[in-house]
Amino acid sequence: MPDPMHFDRHADLYDRARPPYPDALWQRLTSLGLLAAEHRALDLGAGTGQATERLVEAGMRVTAVEPGAALAVRLRERVPSARVLQTSAEEAELAPGSFDLVTVATAIHWFDLDAVLPKLHAALAPGGRLAVWRNVYGDTSVPPTPFRRRLEAIVAQRDAPPRPGPGELETARWARLLEADGLFATTEVAEFHWRIDLDADAVRGLFTTFSDWSADEAEEAARAVRDLGGTVTEHYLTPLIVLARVG
Ligand SMILES: C[S@@+](CC[C@H](N)C(=O)[O-])C[C@H]1O[C@@H](n2cnc3c(N)ncnc32)[C@H](O)[C@@H]1O
Repeated sequence: MPDPMHFDRHADLYDRARPPYPDALWQRLTSLGLLAAEHRALDLGAGTGQATERLVEAGMRVTAVEPGAALAVRLRERVPSARVLQTSAEEAELAPGSFDLVTVATAIHWFDLDAVLPKLHAALAPGGRLAVWRNVYGDTSVPPTPFRRRLEAIVAQRDAPPRPGPGELETARWARLLEADGLFATTEVAEFHWRIDLDADAVRGLFTTFSDWSADEAEEAARAVRDLGGTVTEHYLTPLIVLARVG
């Protein structure tokens, strides 16, 4: 069973190895008016601050929630001007109406939505927005590359059937889940397709950060990169869902 604290055990590597979110995502958030200077943002499941940092750079007043102790240390170092709460989304104490924007970057699948969504509804001011996105490490709309076929062969060796990774989770289904109890209404769904070249070290590091990949499997993936010439082009996807607070 994947463990959400996996990331905390690899905090330094996580900080180095996870690629940033694509510029097109940030441009869309800006054009939607969500990254407004002096607005109050809450970044949930902030990790080492990939998203938190961009919110601060946009001039927002940012609170970041991260339960992992080692991750919270890196987060404070990387984004010293953010207020960091080392706790879970479920347990965070948030004053009513105290945020204009909540962001959740590659973390919503770890949350108990029954507990978290009412809390976010209360913490957002009227007119507030919830922006949820994730990096999907493997864009299934692109024909499989030789490297992808090697990855499939690694996963096929597992005893347990593969748990659906972020790549298999449907954006539309997540949007329905997030608005199911009537507290939020979807205003925007978008998908950003992008690509990145990775060498063997980058692949080993990135795959080690995945909660459902073992160290041996990450090493096998790095070997595949070396076999394929030393660099592979990976096709990734970043789905975005923006919801408005109802009421
Ligand atoms: C894949 S990482 C994403 C981190 C960061 N948002 C980013 O974009 O790089 C998932 C994060 O969610 C955090 N997390 C897991 N369960 C959580 C919970 N119940 N409440 C808040 N954060 C949680 C993990 O500690 C981890 O930092």
